Amino acid sequence: MTRFASTTSNLRSSEIRDLMSLATKPGIISFAGGMPGNDLFPIKEIDEIYNNLSLTEKQLAMQYGPTNGLPTLMESLSAYLKKKGLPVEKNRILITTGSLQAINILAKAFIDPGDSILVENPSFIGALSAFKSYQADIIPVTLNSDGISLTALEKAINKAPALPKFLYITPCFHNPAGYLYSTSLKHELIQLMAGKNIPIIEDDAYSDLFFHPEDSERLTPIKAINPEGIDVCYTGSFSKIIGPGLRLGWMLVPPHIYEKCELIKQSFDACSPSFTQVLADKFLRSGAIYTYLDTVRKAYKTRAEAMFSALEQHLPAYVKWEKPRGGFYIWLQLPEGADATEILKKAIDKGAVFVTGKTFDPEGKKNNCLRVSYCNTSPEMIMKGIPEIAGAIREICG
Ligand SMILES: Cc1ncc(COP(=O)(O)O)c(C=O)c1O
Repeated sequence: MTRFASTTSNLRSSEIRDLMSLATKPGIISFAGGMPGNDLFPIKEIDEIYNNLSLTEKQLAMQYGPTNGLPTLMESLSAYLKKKGLPVEKNRILITTGSLQAINILAKAFIDPGDSILVENPSFIGALSAFKSYQADIIPVTLNSDGISLTALEKAINKAPALPKFLYITPCFHNPAGYLYSTSLKHELIQLMAGKNIPIIEDDAYSDLFFHPEDSERLTPIKAINPEGIDVCYTGSFSKIIGPGLRLGWMLVPPHIYEKCELIKQSFDACSPSFTQVLADKFLRSGAIYTYLDTVRKAYKTRAEAMFSALEQHLPAYVKWEKPRGGFYIWLQLPEGADATEILKKAIDKGAVFVTGKTFDPEGKKNNCLRVSYCNTSPEMIMKGIPEIAGAIREICG
C-alpha cells in the first residue's frame, strides 16, 4: 500500500474536473468551464509581440527570472493596478503562476492544520481545494446577491473555536454566483473587520470584464479603499483578460506578508514563466490590453445577453437567478430539495453540461443550485443548449 502524506489522503478529484472530460466530447454544449472564449484570444497581437522581440529579449524570455517577477512586468503591472486605484506604493507585488498559485501561497502562509478560515458559500472551487490541502477548518458564510452576509459573518467569527486565520472573498463577478458586492456592503464589511486581526484575501480575477461602465465605483476593490486596520491581500490574474495559457497572476500584499510569500514561492517554483511575462509586459506596456479589453467586454456581454434571453424564455418560474453585471457566470437556484446532479445526468443525455452547486459548497452538500457559464459558448450554441438544461430541470423538478 502506497503511504501518502495525511495532507493528500483527503484530496479528491472535483466534479468540475471530471466533467471537463465530458465537456470536450464532440457535440456536447458546455456551460461548465470558466474558460475565456477560444475565439477571443489576442493571437494576432501576441504573434506580433513575439516576432518583434529582440534577440536579447528572446533570450531573457527563455531564462529563469527573479522570484518576484521580471522587473519590466512589475513596472507595467504596477501602472495597470494603479489605474484601478490600488495602493501599489505601500504594498508589494509578487508575480505568481496563475492567481491560484497566489491563493495557494497565501493559504500556506496562514494555515496550520485545523485552523479556521472564513469563506463565502458558495466559493471558488480552486481556492477551496487549496485551503483543504492545508487542512483548514473551512467555515462557510452565506453569500447574498449584494455580498457576504454580515450578520452571518459576525456570527461565524464569534462562534469559531479560535480567531479565524483569514476571510477569503470574491467581491467582483463572483465565481460561481456572478454577484457584484455593493459599495455600501464593502464599507460595512470594512467596519466589521477593522481591528479584528483577520486578514482579507480579496480574489479579483474578473473586475475588468464589466458590462456596464457606469458600475465603475462599484468595481473598486476593497484593497483600493485601503482600509485602516485590515491586512488586505489582493490577488489578480491575466487568465481571463489575456489567456490562462500564460499562467500568470499576482498578489498585492502588505510588505510583512510579502516577505513570507516570496520565500514560499521560491520553494514552489522559483519563478513564474519568463516567456509569458515578457509577452504580458509588452501587451500592457503598448496599451494593447485596453483596446483588447473593450472588444472582449462587448463579446462577453453579447453572450451573457443571449443567455439571459434563453433563460427567460425557457426556465420554469421557480428557478431563481440574477443577471450578472460582468464576468462569466450565472447561478441558478432551484427549489429546496432539488438535486442538480440528477439534472446534470439528464442534461448530459440531452447534450449540454453545467456545474452542480455542491461543487462550490465548502461542505460539498448544498445541491439545489447550479452554475452555467456563457464565456466560451457562442450565442447560437447558448440558444440551442439552454432549452436542454431547462428541459432537464423540468423533468427532475416538475
Ligand atoms: C475566482 C477565481 N479566482 C482565481 C482563479 C484562478 O485563475 P488563474 O490561476 O488561472 O489565474 C479563477 C479561475 O477560474 C477564478 O474563477
